[in-house]
Amino acid sequence: METIRTLGRTGIEVSPLGFGCWAIGGEWQAADGQPLGWGRVDDEESVRAVRRALDLGVTFFDTADTYGAGHSERVLGRALGKRRDDVVVATKWGNVFDEDTRTLTGADDSPAYARRALTASLRRLGTDHVDLYQLHLSDLDPARAAELRDACEEFVDEGLIRAYAWSTDDPARAAVFAEGEHCAAVQHAINVLQDAPEMLALCEESELASINRSPLAMGLLAGKRQGASDAGDIRSRPPAWLQGFGDGSAADPDWLARIDALKEILTSDGRTLAQGALAWLWARSPRTVPIPGFRSVAQAEQNAAAIAKGPLTAGQLAEVDQILGR
Ligand SMILES: NC(=O)c1ccc[n+]([C@@H]2O[C@H](COP(=O)([O-])OP(=O)(O)OC[C@H]3O[C@@H](n4cnc5c(N)ncnc54)[C@H](OP(=O)(O)O)[C@@H]3O)[C@@H](O)[C@H]2O)c1
Repeated sequence: METIRTLGRTGIEVSPLGFGCWAIGGEWQAADGQPLGWGRVDDEESVRAVRRALDLGVTFFDTADTYGAGHSERVLGRALGKRRDDVVVATKWGNVFDEDTRTLTGADDSPAYARRALTASLRRLGTDHVDLYQLHLSDLDPARAAELRDACEEFVDEGLIRAYAWSTDDPARAAVFAEGEHCAAVQHAINVLQDAPEMLALCEESELASINRSPLAMGLLAGKRQGASDAGDIRSRPPAWLQGFGDGSAADPDWLARIDALKEILTSDGRTLAQGALAWLWARSPRTVPIPGFRSVAQAEQNAAAIAKGPLTAGQLAEVDQILGR
């Protein structure tokens, strides 16, 4: 496999694997108490994990202003330190939060807020530009999003960002952003259990990178079989959009059965289950860039080591479809 992938038409080069920085933001919640983080984390371990990833050739990091209500951006900025310019940093805006109480308080889809949010992200990340700025409001009205796309073009002209994307699972919405000259990607859900053929077709047509969130099905494709025990972990009380964890007390048996059926093929050629799930994504399209989450050096090492093992073969890809009846 090529050891780089390109973010759409921009020519920005990244390692084929990015690191998703949601979990390392630590605990935060919605106004009604719904946990929105992944429970407690150890910041020092997070910093070590980011630095280990850098040493292992990872050059792409995805975060959001709202992860840990600003905490993820701060931890990432600290971990990168002087190596900031060696990597491509993606963050997101659109959700409004209180940094002190670590609470999500709402959303703001105005261009003026986008500029304020960007200024705040730059400060927390300790940088003068964001490489990929992503709209976090996945279901926003497309006409409103078009105004934000135009605001992003202004940010590019001003040197505050290099490119932008929409984090959405809707190809029609992604197509609206793709009309902008510096739109480089769409961030969307896809993993071996949840394929996204229409979004991949759009990425091909519009020359966008496909940045893959939840590539490990929030841990299930890395071998997790129980619900979450930490009450601050979103998987312990899954909102409607979070699939695979039932009511939070146990993983969904149907998901576990499909993972069991795929285990032999995903763990072939000496791969771990997580490495096999990443290998499926690379085989699925040359445009994919999975961004698995992590919270420890051990996870960082295992996920980064997937790069050297490369994609599944076309034959294995077809076998996966056959096993899943697709
Ligand atoms: N709307 C959006 O834009 C959006 C939404 C979701 C995610 N994202 C982005 O996508 C990233 C990844 O998606 P995700 O957070 O949903 O989850 P994911 O990548 O599917 O799963 C990550 C989780 O799996 C576990 N894990 C990772 N590597 C492992 C390994 N080698 N061995 C065992 N367990 C391992 C860890 O959880 P435990 O150790 O705690 O089990 C980790 O936090 C996020 O960090 C974020 O950057 C964006």
